[in-house]
Amino acid sequence: MSKKTHRVAQRPTIPWAEGHRKMKGGLLLLVLLWEAKSQPASRPNIVLLMADDLGVGDPGCYGNKTLRTPNIDRLAGGGVKFTQHLAASPLCTPSRAAFMTGRYPIRLGMASHTRLGVYIFMASSGGLPTSEVTFSRLLKDQGYSTALIGKWHLGINCDNTTDFCHHPLRHGFDYFYGIPMTNLRDCKPGEGTVFTTAYRLLVFFPLQVLGLTVFTLAVLRFLRLIRVPLGIFIFLFLLMALILVLFLCFLHYYRPLNCFLMRNYEISQQPMSFDNLTQRLTLEATGFIRRNAEKPFLLFLSYLHVHTALFSSKDFANKSRHGPYGDTTEELDWSVGQVLNVLDELGLSNDTLVYFTSDQGAHVEEVTPKGEMHGGSNGIYKGGKANNWEGGIRIPGILRWPRVIQAGLEIDEPTSNMDIFPTVAKVAGASLPQDRVIDGRDLMPLIQGKTRHSDHEFLFHYCNAYLNAVRWHPRNSKSIWKAFYFTPNFNPESANGCFHTHVCFCFGSFITHHDPPLLFDISRDPRETNPLTPATEPRFHDILRIIQEAADNHTRSLLEVPNQLSPWNMFWKPWLQLCCPSALSSLSCQCDREKRGQILSK
Ligand SMILES: *[C@@H]1O[C@H](CO)[C@@H](O)[C@H](O)[C@H]1NC(C)=O
Ligand SMILES: *[C@@H]1O[C@H](CO)[C@@H](O)[C@H](O)[C@H]1NC(C)=O
Ligand SMILES: *[C@@H]1O[C@H](CO)[C@@H](O)[C@H](O)[C@H]1NC(C)=O
Ligand SMILES: *[C@@H]1O[C@H](CO)[C@@H](O)[C@H](O)[C@H]1NC(C)=O
Ligand SMILES: *[C@@H]1O[C@H](CO)[C@@H](O)[C@H](O)[C@H]1NC(C)=O
Ligand SMILES: *[C@@H]1O[C@H](CO)[C@@H](O)[C@H](O)[C@H]1NC(C)=O
Repeated sequence: MSKKTHRVAQRPTIPWAEGHRKMKGGLLLLVLLWEAKSQPASRPNIVLLMADDLGVGDPGCYGNKTLRTPNIDRLAGGGVKFTQHLAASPLCTPSRAAFMTGRYPIRLGMASHTRLGVYIFMASSGGLPTSEVTFSRLLKDQGYSTALIGKWHLGINCDNTTDFCHHPLRHGFDYFYGIPMTNLRDCKPGEGTVFTTAYRLLVFFPLQVLGLTVFTLAVLRFLRLIRVPLGIFIFLFLLMALILVLFLCFLHYYRPLNCFLMRNYEISQQPMSFDNLTQRLTLEATGFIRRNAEKPFLLFLSYLHVHTALFSSKDFANKSRHGPYGDTTEELDWSVGQVLNVLDELGLSNDTLVYFTSDQGAHVEEVTPKGEMHGGSNGIYKGGKANNWEGGIRIPGILRWPRVIQAGLEIDEPTSNMDIFPTVAKVAGASLPQDRVIDGRDLMPLIQGKTRHSDHEFLFHYCNAYLNAVRWHPRNSKSIWKAFYFTPNFNPESANGCFHTHVCFCFGSFITHHDPPLLFDISRDPRETNPLTPATEPRFHDILRIIQEAADNHTRSLLEVPNQLSPWNMFWKPWLQLCCPSALSSLSCQCDREKRGQILSK
């Protein structure tokens, strides 16, 4: 990775700004009128491309020499590449909630207190509250045509199957095509399951305990040491049978109940098919651009790639040098290219702001039982998805807007995926909500060289609902201090992840607390290998004191909000299950309304 940083103090070449400088006096009124009239035409289209679980070590432009990502590289070459771009959380649901709103997940109630930090059931009642303001809502109010194509993962319903209280169309999108949940291994027929650990904990462990209890009681009864009523045995056997039945139901019904495609409020394919799925999503995206070529639009293309279950079409299967994961990444890159090509073809590229990112770092524990790597690369960085080592939160971040952003820039300053919210609001002419804290910062001053320093003096890294680490970039210094209050216990200990549990957890015996906090200077030690001590860093205690003060200030700014990821809001609720009535039987939850091989929507 190149360490060179170009920052060019460049004047924006926005036409009305030029005009403003040249004209004077009486002409001013005319100019103002002209400005007011022409301003809407000057607002860029917005295309946001988000990969799922793609590591910062995967794209070629971030230093990968063997994965082929020519289209992502082309995008980076035409704009600015951020090399310290940070996800607001190392997990899908909270990271995406923060991305949509420009606010830390904890402010939205989108941070879990339990082990599970994301929705795994479609029929759960939690989600992004409609009281939150999304960038899609702001832009829709500014007259933008808005669409979400792909993954949502921020809830659907609250109380019944028709309220759609968390649905994308209730958050400012005019059009939605994609999966309301997330892609999981369980969505692919014949693929293993991500829930092996959950099964062990929820099924096999209780069964073992119950079995052992029954055995012990039977022995004690046989030896006449205690009197055990027969009812107890019957009860224990029934309990074991119930657990087993629930387990089998879960295995059998997971796929149709949780893996389906929707178009707006309608189910269009249940269970979803992986055949040409990326092609279908891409066609939807390019179709949306074509339909809206004449007016400002916002497209959020949220890929299912490169999360497991890995899938790719015939043109990409077995073509890369990195197995199914590489195939998937190269198909993702192809899709990015299709979107860029359509913008070129329609003459929209110069006036379209395109952003590319991933929702968090690569999932390093994603290894198949056969030992095949199904997770990506976080480059030189430690850890990955679900923890706050740099590998979990450093993500690709590329912004291209040829009319305004100079090509070939590289910025090392800390930036966040929450920054997209204020940035797109500003360029679209929307004002930010004044009644709440917005944690994201407008990126344009940094990109245009009006400031050389990130506006994020402090960034707070949460592991679900627990404050895990604080990053401090002092205003007048190059240092980037990062203090960990706790770190995950990797297992095996020498590994780079929590392989026994598939992801790292955020509390209890899964972590080690640090007092004083573990301190690194990320600017000198990006691999986080050498914790500082008072001996190696004379300002050690001063630095930690200021970080603690900032953390206290931040904590004081949090308001009490409903917990959208409480066990009650996460668990499967039968009365919220969306189910597509098929011709055969209305109970089978199966249908296919996809028309293949053509552009699917008008
Ligand atoms: C579903 O819930 C919404 C809001 O809670 C309510 O207005 C609506 O009447 C309910 N619909 C049905 C069919 O119960
Ligand atoms: C996938 O797309 C290819 C070409 O685009 C087509 O030949 C094939 O029939 C499609 N497969 C399915 C299952 O629709
Ligand atoms: C890719 O390789 C796998 C394993 O060798 C094979 O099962 C599969 O059919 C191949 N797919 C294609 C499209 O060639
Ligand atoms: C886009 O901008 C570039 C550089 O500013 C210019 O050379 C090119 O002609 C523009 N293309 C269109 C279609 O306006
Ligand atoms: C490139 O990506 C592949 C797949 O994630 C990974 O195995 C490889 O280590 C990466 N190369 C570098 C230099 O990071
Ligand atoms: C914390 O807040 C106080 C009061 O607003 C302020 O004076 C102080 O500078 C803040 N501390 C830090 C480290 O931001």
